[in-house]
Amino acid sequence: PAPGWTTRADVVVVGSGIAGLTAALRIHAADPSLHLLVVTKDVLAAGSTQWAQGGIAAALGPGDTPEQHERDTLVAGAGACDVEAVRILVTEGPEAVRELIALGTQFDHHPDGELSLTREGGHHRDRIAHAGGDATGAEIQRALIAAVERAPEIEVVQHALAVDLLRSADGAVAGLTLHVLGEGQHDGVGAVHCRAVVLASGGLGQVFSQSTNPSVSTGDGMAVALRAGARLRDLEFVQFHPTVMWLGADSQGQQPLISEAVRGEGAFLVDFEGDRFMQGEHELADLAPRDVVAKAITRRMIATGQPHMWLDARHLGAEFWERRFPTILRVCREHGVDPVTELIPVAPAQHYASGGVATDLWGRTSVPGLYATGEVACSGVHGANRLASNSLLEGLVFSRRIADVLPGELRPWAEPAADSRPEGLVDGERRRAMQDVMTTRVGVLRHADGLAEAIEWLATLDPGDPAVGPPAWETSNLHTISTALAVAAAIRTETRGSHWREDFPDRDDSKAGHIDAWVDIDGSI
Ligand code: SIN
Repeated sequence: PAPGWTTRADVVVVGSGIAGLTAALRIHAADPSLHLLVVTKDVLAAGSTQWAQGGIAAALGPGDTPEQHERDTLVAGAGACDVEAVRILVTEGPEAVRELIALGTQFDHHPDGELSLTREGGHHRDRIAHAGGDATGAEIQRALIAAVERAPEIEVVQHALAVDLLRSADGAVAGLTLHVLGEGQHDGVGAVHCRAVVLASGGLGQVFSQSTNPSVSTGDGMAVALRAGARLRDLEFVQFHPTVMWLGADSQGQQPLISEAVRGEGAFLVDFEGDRFMQGEHELADLAPRDVVAKAITRRMIATGQPHMWLDARHLGAEFWERRFPTILRVCREHGVDPVTELIPVAPAQHYASGGVATDLWGRTSVPGLYATGEVACSGVHGANRLASNSLLEGLVFSRRIADVLPGELRPWAEPAADSRPEGLVDGERRRAMQDVMTTRVGVLRHADGLAEAIEWLATLDPGDPAVGPPAWETSNLHTISTALAVAAAIRTETRGSHWREDFPDRDDSKAGHIDAWVDIDGSI
């Protein structure tokens, strides 16, 4: 539809988690004269950052070094990381976390005043800073929102879904169309003319039936970028978190995460016979990298015909549970399981998109004027499998880098040409069926036959003429990204990191290269 309103801003930041708000705050600090607009699909705190439990990884503890953090990150990434990007992440990480503390984030400390650091899967050191026990993301989000509120020059529009990028005749970003719900003069579909867009819109968890991601994670930023011709890569590397609370076969949407930090503090996995099956699987046993644990659980579920495994954390005791994991304790009890006295039923569920919009070391995408940071981006730090607690860090570090270069390379104002939206939208009613197909055919365990079925099924989902609004915009974006993801998974005929092919069970380094996702203007790949 034609825009009902237009407005202007020098820079639009799409998304309001750690990546988006850090970008906004740092760009504002770098050049306060720029008119900055932050748009977010729901309210400021609705994205994935708020839900992060375990924490944020950085070499901050005694004896730890960025080199050791780099080593663990590269091992988890299974040969698909960009080494230079990882080096930047781990060397700039400690300072970036200290800056977060200076901004007002209250991390947990030991009684002697030292930062309390824990361990998660794949880490050989205690290097995860946490807050409120297991409410790290909520505390970071609180501190960032407070900082944005102290900078009223940063304009914020909530309930604003990014529909498509507008580009000038030379292909550079010149604006963005939005669908805004009930925000005064910016209500309905409108356009923002601008000189740069920073995508920080998060991941794609809602591609699958069960995810730890909130309902807003519908791959919008990736789909918008893909339609505008940006390069996306590594979409097949979808991380499944091993220990997500199992609520029954019919439970759909966001599922409760049981942080790896619970295993970091001594919890362990058992099967229905009480066998500690992670022992002998890996030198780090229950704290092996995430893909190793997710695969071992899935194998044991298949071998025993059970829909889940168990996490035993009873020995941590009531006092420790209440102090260290108050959020998880509350959520488990709300679902009728008391982890102080009972085993927690767990199974893998979608957790993180390691791929996304390809960027250089300064967050620049292949489209001039378009930057990407956080989960929507693929900076190269995660490779085939993100190391635990590196995601908040990535958003923080690379948003700082965007702010270092963006003000100096802003393009002159240019007139937007047409947007890149194809005709037709996918009906929101089809979302559930699409999620089922993606979960059963493109989930934790993949095979050429299932992938071909998924691609064929997705191709039959013709865009039609449903009511224009967020359900149809989001479902269309999920359709675009599901198709790109399934095609990439079919092309990668090897097993690597979080991409597990039943028919190609071994890693094959002759196939280690990146797989790009491209989509034609009509939505076909
Ligand atoms: C967790 O707390 O287990 C999740 C941490 C992460 O995804 O990095």
